[in-house]
Amino acid sequence: MNYDHRFHAGNFADVHKHLVLIALLERLSEKPTPWFYLDTHAGSGLYDLDRLPQDPPPEFRRGFEILWQNSPADPLLARYRALVAQDNPSGTLRWYPGSPLLAHRLARSNDRLAFVEAVPQRQAELKRHLGRRPGVHCRDGFEALLALTPPPEGRGLVFLDPPYEQVSEADRLVETLSRACTRFPQGIFLAWYPWVDTDWTNGLKRRLDRIPRISFLDWWRPRGNGLWGSGLALVNVPYGIPERLERLAPELSSLFRDPPGSTGWRTTWTSGDGRELPGRPRLRG
Ligand SMILES: C[S@@+](CC[C@H](N)C(=O)[O-])C[C@H]1O[C@@H](n2cnc3c(N)ncnc32)[C@H](O)[C@@H]1O
Repeated sequence: MNYDHRFHAGNFADVHKHLVLIALLERLSEKPTPWFYLDTHAGSGLYDLDRLPQDPPPEFRRGFEILWQNSPADPLLARYRALVAQDNPSGTLRWYPGSPLLAHRLARSNDRLAFVEAVPQRQAELKRHLGRRPGVHCRDGFEALLALTPPPEGRGLVFLDPPYEQVSEADRLVETLSRACTRFPQGIFLAWYPWVDTDWTNGLKRRLDRIPRISFLDWWRPRGNGLWGSGLALVNVPYGIPERLERLAPELSSLFRDPPGSTGWRTTWTSGDGRELPGRPRLRG
């Protein structure tokens, strides 16, 4: 496996997925009953931004660093910035926490978390970064999803963030997510996908669209090459989440206005056939 998240840590796609992740976990914590969190592709948990090659400029510079330098006003953006600030007490951005550390910080004492990472070295790093917290597994994340759901808590969130390095990963995502949603119908599922090749991504979305109560939240640059957009498939979007995400869209759009003078980034809810859902995903029934 060649994929190394170090080079992508804190990029705009991480900003997109981590903002939604934080919003969903905070929403789950509004009820006192414990929740379960499963991270099927966890990574190593904490990334040293100082140790990245500078040419070309590291990806976080056009991602999280924009939020770091601008002290955003929206409460969700400010919360995200504050969670990352815990790793950077000197005020200089050096460390970027991955999804496991963010979830760990948002969990209450009775919530349960499980992290799955297939690469032994990264799993060992993750264990170190999480301290003594149990639930770090070194295995295949898709297999673990079926093994660990439905959770006894009966409520929770599964985050699937595969690297899409192998051709089979999209097939495995569609198949495993479909099965897991049937096994754990009340669960919230969040799965990331890239926008590099439009036909590929639209094809993946069409296949995922067979899952009941699935919606897609895409964040696009007006124009670009390489990774020009970040996509999230969400199953069972809780009430209140679309409004919360909509509230931050103007500020996010103005902060991520690049190149200067462009229309900025655009956030859109769509169905799998690419139809825009007018500002609203399919909510949990
Ligand atoms: C995109 S990174 C994860 C980033 C992390 N979710 C975050 O937001 O900070 C994907 C990770 O999945 C791991 N991985 C790749 N294939 C896997 C598999 N089949 N099961 C579990 N982990 C896998 C990679 O080693 C890599 O660390």
